[in-house]
Amino acid sequence: MGCCSSKPSSLVSNELNIKVEGLLSPIIIKDYKLPNRIVHAAMTRGRCDPSNSIPNDLLVEYYTKVARNGCKFIITECSGISPENCFKGNGFCHNNQQMEGWKKVVDSVHREGAKIFLQLFHGGRANHPKNSGGITPVAPSAIAIRGKDHTIEGLLDHVEPREITKEEMKIICNNFKEAAKNAINYGFDGIQLHCANGYLIDQFIRSYTNWRKDEYGNSIENRLRFPLEIIDECIDAIGADKVGIKVSPLGRYNDMYDETPFKTFNLFMMEVNKRNIAFVEMMGPDSTQTKFFPKPEEQIGDVWKAFRSTYKGLYIANSKFDFNSGNEIISNGDADMVSFGTKFISNPDLVRRFENGLELNNKVDWGNVFFGGRKGYLDYPEYNEFITRK
Ligand SMILES: Cc1cc2nc3c(=O)[nH]c(=O)nc-3n(C[C@H](O)[C@H](O)[C@H](O)COP(=O)(O)O)c2cc1C
Repeated sequence: MGCCSSKPSSLVSNELNIKVEGLLSPIIIKDYKLPNRIVHAAMTRGRCDPSNSIPNDLLVEYYTKVARNGCKFIITECSGISPENCFKGNGFCHNNQQMEGWKKVVDSVHREGAKIFLQLFHGGRANHPKNSGGITPVAPSAIAIRGKDHTIEGLLDHVEPREITKEEMKIICNNFKEAAKNAINYGFDGIQLHCANGYLIDQFIRSYTNWRKDEYGNSIENRLRFPLEIIDECIDAIGADKVGIKVSPLGRYNDMYDETPFKTFNLFMMEVNKRNIAFVEMMGPDSTQTKFFPKPEEQIGDVWKAFRSTYKGLYIANSKFDFNSGNEIISNGDADMVSFGTKFISNPDLVRRFENGLELNNKVDWGNVFFGGRKGYLDYPEYNEFITRK
């Protein structure tokens, strides 16, 4: 049996009374019905002009293509809530010109009958000064990412961030809130707060990056305080049913680690559950394991199952899924939906391929995944019904 009957939530319903078999089963979320359970995960592709981060026609074409080919739940690339953030080639969301650009994306995606959520992010210690006009990055504590970063001057060591002040935290919290309001005002169906992958919110949550001695550090409750304040501000501004989050309890990307990921994220999920938000996207272990930390699987064996009974709302599983494992996790009730990242890069028509049992294109043009124009972004072959009929 699928999740919907066994995991009650006010946002996910089983009104369809269907047996949930897998990725291609329909789902009702709030007042909308989606034909399948496949989500486009947020992916930075850097196709905008980095001098202004205004979404352009390339983004309109990309997201529309994904929607037209059957993916009806799209999360955008991470979008900077303020100018100092990295990934400036992504579409940002802190001024009206950027939002006008997004409006074209949103309208076009809506014409294809899909829902679209804007991913809001602040990079924290991952904001390299060379990419941020010389500004020293801020983070919960002054601990640098070990390793190098891609900057406009090439690969350089990450720099030591400055411990953020409470006044600055208030400003950033307000930036998230304003960005959330912008998203709704310009037609997005909701937002996803990027609480994963070692960016600012995640840096507060996890023990390795938050060594603060004030009420924002020093205990799990305190480490969760700022993330929950941001969530609450966004809920206040746009409503809980439009706020989703993404978490990565075991992620090592950006030199991240938590000593007790189950305890930390279980408490986070308990708190989030009380707020009845739109969804949680739960990442599995990533491929960035380093020698510094224990293997993720030694910390939590099955990360999706681990938090499934704590968080009772719409639960999206992510990381390294394929058609079979995606079907399995949905049919055994451990997730409501599955999000795909990498597979969408070379298969913008991923859903059509799943529906028609076609082989996937596994040749990702990695040299052109980030930045540039159409090449490596809009030149992957699309599903052609004629070919399958033959
Ligand atoms: C090129 C690329 C860019 C990404 N950019 C983002 C991003 O902007 N925000 C985010 O939350 N995750 C980002 N991710 C992570 C994906 O959303 C996803 O969590 C990850 O790739 C695991 O899913 P997969 O195994 O289906 O690819 C990115 C991944 C890739 C491959």
